[in-house]
Amino acid sequence: MPLLNIFDYEELARRKLSKPFFEYIAGGADDETTLRRNREAFERIELSPRALVDVSHVDLTTSVLGQAVEMPVLLAPVAVQRLAHPEGELATAGAAAQAGTIMTLSTMASASIEEVASASNGPKWFQLYVHRDRNVSKSMVQRADAVGYKAVCLTVDVPRLGRRERDLRNRLEYPPGVAHQNYIGEVELPPLEVGAGESELSASADVLIDPALTWEVIDWLRSFTSLPVIVKGIMTAEDARFAVDHGASAIVVSNHGGRQLDGAPASISVLPEIAAAVDGRCEVLLDSGIRRGTDIVKALALGANAVLIGRAYIWGLAVAGEDGVTQVLSILRNELELAMALCGCRSVAEVGAEVVYSQARPD
Ligand code: FNR
Ligand code: LAC
Repeated sequence: MPLLNIFDYEELARRKLSKPFFEYIAGGADDETTLRRNREAFERIELSPRALVDVSHVDLTTSVLGQAVEMPVLLAPVAVQRLAHPEGELATAGAAAQAGTIMTLSTMASASIEEVASASNGPKWFQLYVHRDRNVSKSMVQRADAVGYKAVCLTVDVPRLGRRERDLRNRLEYPPGVAHQNYIGEVELPPLEVGAGESELSASADVLIDPALTWEVIDWLRSFTSLPVIVKGIMTAEDARFAVDHGASAIVVSNHGGRQLDGAPASISVLPEIAAAVDGRCEVLLDSGIRRGTDIVKALALGANAVLIGRAYIWGLAVAGEDGVTQVLSILRNELELAMALCGCRSVAEVGAEVVYSQARPD
């Protein structure tokens, strides 16, 4: 079967992976309303084709937090990637570097900060879930800084883990040898009992993530690190303003791919009001539901500087390891380039608000 697009990779990944692992990656919270909405909202947005612009050269390069990237598509943090492929995060790091873009390593990765740093010298960010014992988190950030990660991406939409019923039904457990590698040597983890109605992730999230965080946590982070702070999981204009006021260098408009609060809107639907509230005071990134180059154009047009992809590259990882991630990034790159050309945009900077139709019209 020819693998033409991200949905083809998803279908092949579904056939290759065991049901619990596929469903862990694919699934969302509760009724998966928000998960579906992420796709529906992109599908509803209309793009405006433009005629007779010389698009023989379309430049996809841009920069994010001062880092030059080959395209405005970064890799979102995704936990325990060894569930998708034995090489997990190490394969992802290689593919991201080859594509000339940024990889974000999850706190809950199945390869450590240092292992991933030595796997590739491409640009990397470290995603932080703040532990109940802040010294654990401080140490992780310092480790990331010491081996060259360029920013801390603080995820703020998981005070508690969303209820992923597929994982609870499957009683998701990691295979032997797969663990949350970054905690090893940092903290003594109690032996984990995955009871009925739990998953390994739900049981460990309760232990590992501090539910008591407030905006003060950004001040705390900035008190000991000079790395730029990206705040991931912003869905309202007011929270975007709080993030800016606390010194965030960027925000990620995200509903965590529909895995946290079910009922939340699609992130693309709230992007315009958030971009307006931020008004250029920090960079604005977006994730949740990106599967096509046209989705990326829509996000850029509505106010994002760049997007992150989650499941899209994990399907590539599941299908063919590092090569699979490379193929997915190349598909999205080609789709983005074509979509920009058909919209008459020769550079990322040229993708403005006029690229999407703003007026409702009769169907
Ligand atoms: C995630 N996401 C995530 N986010 C984060 O900040 N830390 C993490 O450890 C994880 N882990 C994780 C695991 C899996 C399997 C998925 C699918 C997602 C959320 C991720 O960074 C991103 O916000 C979403 O994946 C974006 O939605 P799409 O692109 O998957 O639709
Ligand atoms: C997830 C967590 C770990 O979405 O962020 O699975």
